[in-house]
Formats: sequence, structure tokens, C-alpha cells
Amino acid sequence: MEWKNNLSSMLGIIYPIVQAPMLGITTPEMVAAVSNGGALGSLPIGNIAPSTARTLIQQVRKLTTKPFAVNVFAYDIPISPDQTSFDAMQNMLQGVYTRNGLGVPPIDLKTLSFFSYKDLLPVLIEEKIDIISFTFGIPDAAGVSLLKQSNAKLIGTATSLEEAVLLEQRGMDVIVAQGIEAGGHRGSFLADSFPQVGVMALVPQIVDRVKVPVIAAGGIVDGRGVAAGLMLGASGVQPGSAFLLCNESQATGAHKAAIAAATDTTTRLTRAFSGRWARGLTNTLIAAVEDANVDILPYPYQDALTQPARKASREQDNPSFVAMWAGQAAGLAKERLGAAEILQQMISQTEQLIPSLAATTNNAAAGSPGNHS
Ligand SMILES: Cc1cc2nc3c(=O)[nH]c(=O)nc-3n(C[C@H](O)[C@H](O)[C@H](O)COP(=O)(O)O)c2cc1C
Repeated sequence: MEWKNNLSSMLGIIYPIVQAPMLGITTPEMVAAVSNGGALGSLPIGNIAPSTARTLIQQVRKLTTKPFAVNVFAYDIPISPDQTSFDAMQNMLQGVYTRNGLGVPPIDLKTLSFFSYKDLLPVLIEEKIDIISFTFGIPDAAGVSLLKQSNAKLIGTATSLEEAVLLEQRGMDVIVAQGIEAGGHRGSFLADSFPQVGVMALVPQIVDRVKVPVIAAGGIVDGRGVAAGLMLGASGVQPGSAFLLCNESQATGAHKAAIAAATDTTTRLTRAFSGRWARGLTNTLIAAVEDANVDILPYPYQDALTQPARKASREQDNPSFVAMWAGQAAGLAKERLGAAEILQQMISQTEQLIPSLAATTNNAAAGSPGNHS
């Protein structure tokens, strides 16, 4: 087995390891550190204003000349919930905030507005982004064709075989197979379906079914996980939780401490924060929303409604109301290291487990220009 494969060649990277995009955690510094280390950093811009997205992309470009991916949420914004449901959720939340001494002003439903992935496409094209990953769905045919005309490689996220087949049919060049172990939001996008398939079962079935390269995501935190993903037939892996505690992560001190104390059973799937299923550490907000007899609003309305409390809680370094997304293996994440060191340790450990990988990159490095000193 070699590091160089269909995926690393397509993306122009040495190691087919993708740092998962993690909105709220990933910084341009994290992306650049991973890309400079020969793997693929991913910059999340889902739900972000186009002007801010452009600034973030330009910040990454200042820090690396290597390939990196930009990640977008490809979903259609649903119609607004009715005022009564919105008020019921808001009143319940306000009661919880007050009881916990968190001053958060109420939101007016009529003032809510959201950016669509379609607003971000011009930025991606103008900034000549050549690797774009999607979650929550597939861009429409016009969007896919626009991005293909700009020669971008497109990566879609599947949580089931059915989704993977659809992603390939709709023109995705690569598929991330996201298992139920994964931290953060589920990428699932087919109506009335909530796949809960683990990486071990999902990856080989998708690999057998599609022709495009597959990336395994979920529960991969160190070289053992990388080796396992490759053995399952994936061309690459996409660890996220592995980078939660790194020096470049935006997580606050208390948030990092909670992740560092995580075990195999501390995370759960919840719709409490955003209205979409996501895996994270339990806290006051999750418990309150799940215990209340109030309907959770659809994404992104529930997400918008909980944002001010998340921000206030984060500013106080109090994790009670912060969305602490983390995967089932987040307890293995290493602390106080740079993203580059985490990547390097992951690579070395994988090479110890699959020695042929080391042999091939050493040969490649010896033959590469600028390496003859
Ligand atoms: C804090 C956090 C935020 C995430 N945000 C995103 C995101 O913005 N876009 C995305 O495609 N995936 C996101 N994910 C999911 C990751 O892409 C990936 O599937 C997951 O981290 C893999 O599982 P692991 O955490 O066990 O490594 C996020 C995951 C975490 C932990």
C-alpha cells in the first residue's frame, strides 16, 4: 500500500489525510498547518457571510501555498416555522437562561435571515478554490456545473450507501463516508431517513459500490484509525475530533477540558442545538431542550435561536450552553500540540502499522527536487 493513490493524486497532496472542516473550531492557522504538512486542511464556511468567507480564504492563502479544501453546507433553507412554535421554544430557552444567570436578549423571528450555499458559489469561483467539500446535501445541477467549469474537485458527504450512490450520480468526484461515530452534524440529506451506520460497515459497502475515491470519517483519531480506514478500502481519511484540542483550535479552555475528559460514552446525538442531528458532549442546553415538552424547530431556525446563548456562554468560558461537538473517540485527542505535530504523529503511527507506506514516501521524497542536500 502507498500513500500515493487516486485521491492524493487528484488533490495534489502527499498524505490522503483530510483535516475535517469544523465550523466554530477550525481556524485558517489549523488549515494551513495541515496543508503545509502534506495533507489537506479544510476551511469551513457553512452559513458564513460571503464577505467573511472570502477574508478567511485569503487568510489561509497567506499561510500556505499548498492545496486546501473549502467546506460548504449544501441545503435548501426551509420555510420559516410558525410564530407559535418559535415563541414556545424561545420562551422555554429564556427560562433556562434566566435560571442559569445567562442574560441573552430574545430574537425576533421576522429579523432572521440566512445565507444559502448559492451565495457562497461566486466567492469560491472568484477565489479559484479548486477543492470544495459539501455536507447536508448536494448543490443543484446549475451549481455543480458552474463549479465544474471552474475545474474544482467536488467532495460530497454520505451517511448511507443510498446517499453515496446519489452523490456519485450528481457529479461528486470524491465521497466522504461519515459513520455514526463522527463528531458534529450528520451529513444525512435524504428526507425521512436517519442512517446510523458505523464506519466499519459503511466504508467497504460504499467502496464496493462507487467508482470515485472514498474518504472514511468518524472515530479516526490516530494512526490506528487511519490504517483501519485504508484497510477498509478507503482512499483517505477525514479526522475531526483529533484536532479539537490542538493549539490552533478555537475551543475555549473549559470547552477543551470537557473534550479532554470525554470517554466512549460521553457523546450523544441531539437536535437540541440546531434542529439537525449532531454528535457532541451533553450539557445544560441539551438536557433542557430534550427534557422540555416543546417541539424542536427545523434547522437552521433552532440553530439561530440558540446562537446568542452559545456566544455568551463561550465568552464566559462556561461550556454549559456551548455546542461541544465531538466524536465517539474524541477522548483519544491529544492536547497542547500543534495541528502539524498531531498530523505528523498520525502519519508515523500509520507507517509503523503499514510499513510499505513509509517506504513509498521516502522514495518519493528522495527523488523530489530540492531534496538532494
Ligand atoms: C466540532 C466539529 C465541527 C464540525 N463541523 C463540520 C462542518 O462545518 N462541516 C462538515 O462537513 N463537517 C463538520 N464536522 C464533521 C466532520 O467533517 C467529520 O465528519 C467528523 O469530525 C469525523 O468524525 P470524528 O470527529 O470522530 O473524527 C464537524 C465535526 C466536529 C467534531
